[in-house]
Formats: sequence, C-alpha cells, structure tokens
Amino acid sequence: MKLMGSVFLLALAPLTLALENGLMRTPPMGWLAWERFRCNTDCKSDPHNCISEKLFMDMADRLATDGWRELGYVYVNIDDCWTAKERDATGHLVPDPERFPSGIKALADYVHARGLKLGIYADIGSYTCAGYPGTTLDRIEQDALTFAQWGVDMLKFDGCYSSGAMQAEGYPKMSKALNATGRPIAYSCSWPAYQGGLPPQVNYTLLANICNLWRNYGDIQDSWDSVLSIVEWFSVNQDVLQPVAGPGHWNDPDMLIIGNFGLSCEQSRSQMALWTIMAAPLFMSTDLRVISDSAKEILQNKLMIKINQDPLGIQGRKILQEKSRIEVFLRPLSHSASALVFFSRRTDMPYRYTTSLARLNFTQDFVYETQDVYTGQIISGLKAADNFTIVVNPSGVVMWYLYPTMHLDQPFSFMKQQPEDKKVHPFTL
Ligand code: GLA
Repeated sequence: MKLMGSVFLLALAPLTLALENGLMRTPPMGWLAWERFRCNTDCKSDPHNCISEKLFMDMADRLATDGWRELGYVYVNIDDCWTAKERDATGHLVPDPERFPSGIKALADYVHARGLKLGIYADIGSYTCAGYPGTTLDRIEQDALTFAQWGVDMLKFDGCYSSGAMQAEGYPKMSKALNATGRPIAYSCSWPAYQGGLPPQVNYTLLANICNLWRNYGDIQDSWDSVLSIVEWFSVNQDVLQPVAGPGHWNDPDMLIIGNFGLSCEQSRSQMALWTIMAAPLFMSTDLRVISDSAKEILQNKLMIKINQDPLGIQGRKILQEKSRIEVFLRPLSHSASALVFFSRRTDMPYRYTTSLARLNFTQDFVYETQDVYTGQIISGLKAADNFTIVVNPSGVVMWYLYPTMHLDQPFSFMKQQPEDKKVHPFTL
C-alpha cells in the first residue's frame, strides 16, 4: 500500500527535478579525506595514513571526542580510492577488501553510533579521477541504492572521464535516484568545476534545484597560493555566485587546509574567515589525530561558526579593494547583524587601516557594537561616521561581528526587536 501510495504521488508530481531532501539548511561541516590523505592506498608501508576504514574510524573518534561534533562538524567523508579496482559479479561497487574489510555498512554504523554522518564519493564517468570504477549513466540507480542500503548520508559526485552530455544527464539523474531511495542523502555535485567560462557558463538555477552544494572551481592544494587563487576566482565571479547560494544549496570553494603544512597561522585565520564570509561548507582535510592547538582554536572558534552557520544563509561579497591592498568583505546575518573581514594582501608589515562604517555602506542612522571574532575585543557605541583604525597583518585578517544597538532618531524604541522578516540590514551589499 505504502509503495503504491508513493508511486501515485510520484505520478502526480512528474518531471520535478527539485532536490526535496530538506538537508543542509546551513553550510555542511565535517571532515573530508582528499586534500590531506589523497589516494594513499599503501596500507602495508603506511597503515596509519592510507585510505582505509581505520582512517575514517580514527577521524570519527576524534570528531566525537575532541569537541568537533558539538560545534557542528558531523560529516566524516570518504573521497576517491575507496573501492576495489573492479565492480563485483553483479555490477555493484565494492570497497577494497583489504583496506575496508568490514565494509561500508559497518563503517556507517560506527560513524552513526558516534552521532556523526558518513559521506562517500563516486564519479559520473567511466572512471573516478584516480582511476577507480566510475558510475556511468546505466549504473546511477544501482549505486544510489547501494549507498542508501549502506546507510550513507552524503555523496560527492565527481566529473572525471565524462563528457558534457554525460554530466548534463547524469547529475540530475543521480539527484532523482538519491531522492528515490527514500534515505536523506546530501548531494555534492562537482559539475560546475568541469564547466568553464568567465563568467562561469553554468546553470546555477538548475544546480540549486538538484544539488545541496557544488564545487565551482579547481582543487585546493596545501599552499597559500592555492587559497589565494580560489578567493580571487570567487571574488571575480561573485555577481554570478553570490545570489545562487542559500539554505540547502551552497557554493563550495573546497576543503579547509588549516592544520596542514602550507599555511602560516595568519593565513589559516584568513582561510577560515574568508570561507565563513562566503557561507562555504567547512570540510576540514587535516589529520585530527595530531592537529596543533593553534589550528584547532581557529577551526573551533564559536563566534566564527555561528557566523558561518547563520540561518539566513546569505553569502557575503567583497565590497572594497583599497589601493593599500586591504580588501573588505561583508556578509549580512540574521537579527540585522553582519560580519566584516578586513583582509591584507600585503607582504610587508602589519598595516594600520583607517576607515568608517559609513565608508563600508552602513547607514548613518544607527550606533553599532562590534566584536573581533579572533580576539573577542568589543567596541561599543560606534557611529557609522566614526573613523576607526585596525591593524591587519600581512596575509592576515581582522574579522568583526557587528550589530546595531541604537537608532539615532529613535534611541529607545529600537531595542524592541522587529520580527526577523521585517528586519532590514543597516547597509547595502
Ligand atoms: C578531483 C576532485 C578532488 C578529489 C579528486 C579525487 O580532482 O576535484 O576534490 O575528489 O578528484 O581523485
């Protein structure tokens, strides 16, 4: 009966592509293997770091034990190189038997028992990017069902070894297939990263309907140059990218590399701040077993995460690029609050930057309170016209959370809060 009912409902709602899974109303947070652990399959010489069930169990343990899960870092995501080199006799994807001897279902159970979610990786093409079996068009339903039966919670669907036509058919088809399993499985599409053009020739309306997040651009590497190139690309294309993000559908500038080898402390703070301003997914790709206290402090900054996870889900923008090579980014937040990032592209010395909120498009009608996201320092009673000076280190940021505390014309009535949908932001973006 139940089955017939849903078949009937499906018949009533034909041709809808929408990804009605209700997932990821705020940017997803968790851990993803690729940037740090790549396709290391050599478990004989490197058992601690190879792509194996042990690695994912170790990371699940760390997420559950070291304070990550409570902050929202709940996804433990497998990337490429988890399967055997061939499908089995019935055409099913199977994990490499030596590296995942207990199977993916057991791994999902392990992860779920710790209050976490499991993500997996596949590719709409003949092979994955690292040469493992792909999910060609004829395999999509089968693989979606396999993932659902294993208890997987998220799929990253890559695009190597596929044509434009395969992608155009395959990405929507996988979205439908995941929905049809009846299991809520978040869907990360790498489709735009395989489409070129400036501005990107991507149908973002379609993407937002079928995917929860999408990789827009090339792979992050463990270097500051790589972070800069991503930030630059997102800024140059922000008119296209900014409006398409929102609850349930996010641009993904790729993983956080904080805790690895390529970024200084200032640069790590910058990546975290800029990803947060962009309302980006926060997938760490680092070894949580040995992460330093300073990297952990950046990744576990509560005010930062509150800003990243703001329920309005509005992506921020670069609003100013000064001759001094200070760039200013602004993200509107709920309760008329906002976040500002002052980012230094300088390479000489800490820079004393003087500006005012009025110069940053804030209206003169309010008095503001600001809180430095990294130092906690608060400034109260800041009027939009007031000049202030901050010191931004080379390749570093100063990040503020700020909100109006008083309307200059109606000093006493302003604090009677307006309902959220009536609130206006005190600036133009
Ligand atoms: C592509 C993706 C990366 C990673 C690798 C795996 O390059 O963009 O994020 O998944 O494939 O091979």
